Amino acid sequence: MILQSSMRTAVIVVVASVSTFALAQDKAAHDETAHVSAQELKAKTDYCKTCHGIDGQGFRGSYPMPRLAGQQPEYIENQLKAFIEHRRNNPVMFNVAHVLTPAMLVALTSEFKNLDPKPLGSATKANLIEGKKIYEDGIASANVPPCASCHGPEAKGDGQFPRLAGQLNDYVIRKLTNWDKERGQDKANPDSSTIMQPIAHDLTEVQIRAVAAYVSQLD
Ligand code: HEC
Ligand code: HEC
Repeated sequence: MILQSSMRTAVIVVVASVSTFALAQDKAAHDETAHVSAQELKAKTDYCKTCHGIDGQGFRGSYPMPRLAGQQPEYIENQLKAFIEHRRNNPVMFNVAHVLTPAMLVALTSEFKNLDPKPLGSATKANLIEGKKIYEDGIASANVPPCASCHGPEAKGDGQFPRLAGQLNDYVIRKLTNWDKERGQDKANPDSSTIMQPIAHDLTEVQIRAVAAYVSQLD
């Protein structure tokens, strides 16, 4: 436990220093939240839900649309900026995000935080025990720390550490498998994705499937 909490403290220091540069801009954005009308916000949220599911619970199509419901506002804000700044690669979300005003971007984050639908579920139950063990204890032999040490004991996340509870199984598998190709793409501007990079890298395909199945069914 001591090791886990000191690791987390170190990580928080990294995250804090990475995001300091954005603080001044963020403050301006927060002050403008009042300029988003309820109608504008609803129209925009409805648009997001055409892909991300009626209650933001995600959607399982040919390409998995991630769950946004209950997601940490700070994490959503950072990811939307990452799409805009090409730190995170996704052409669809670049198009969606780069037209958002700073005030709308912040307003959207609290909308999704307040949604609480059940997980879509449906991952295989066969490897839940292995997945739970990886989530709670990590994999000492591969130097993989417990996921819980950063994502929280119930996988609800905290600040820039995303919620994983109820996240779509196939989405989690894709993200962990493709980390190096999608996240931290602006090498001159390293961000919080560097914290996850070695962890995603050190997990085997079987371990990824197990831990993805486990988190996908958490409420
Ligand atoms: C046309 C479909 C579409 C629309 C509309 C859309 N998204 Fe997305 N969104 C996606 C896809 C696909 C991904 C997954 C990208 C990936 O795999 O990295 C995604 C990912 C995200 C992520 C990252 C989630 C995570 O867990 O890291 C956030 C945040 C997000 N979208 C927010 C929004 C918001 C807010 C809106 C409305 C303003 C919106 N999206 C509208 C398709 C869409
Ligand atoms: C040292 C802290 C730390 C540990 C331990 C950790 N993570 Fe993460 N994780 C993060 C951070 C920070 C992010 C956000 C990265 C970003 O901003 O791009 C993240 C993001 C993720 C994402 C992307 C979520 C999304 O919605 O796109 C997944 C999936 C994930 N972690 C799974 C895991 C799993 C599974 C484990 C355990 C095997 C784990 N993490 C352990 C810090 C950690």
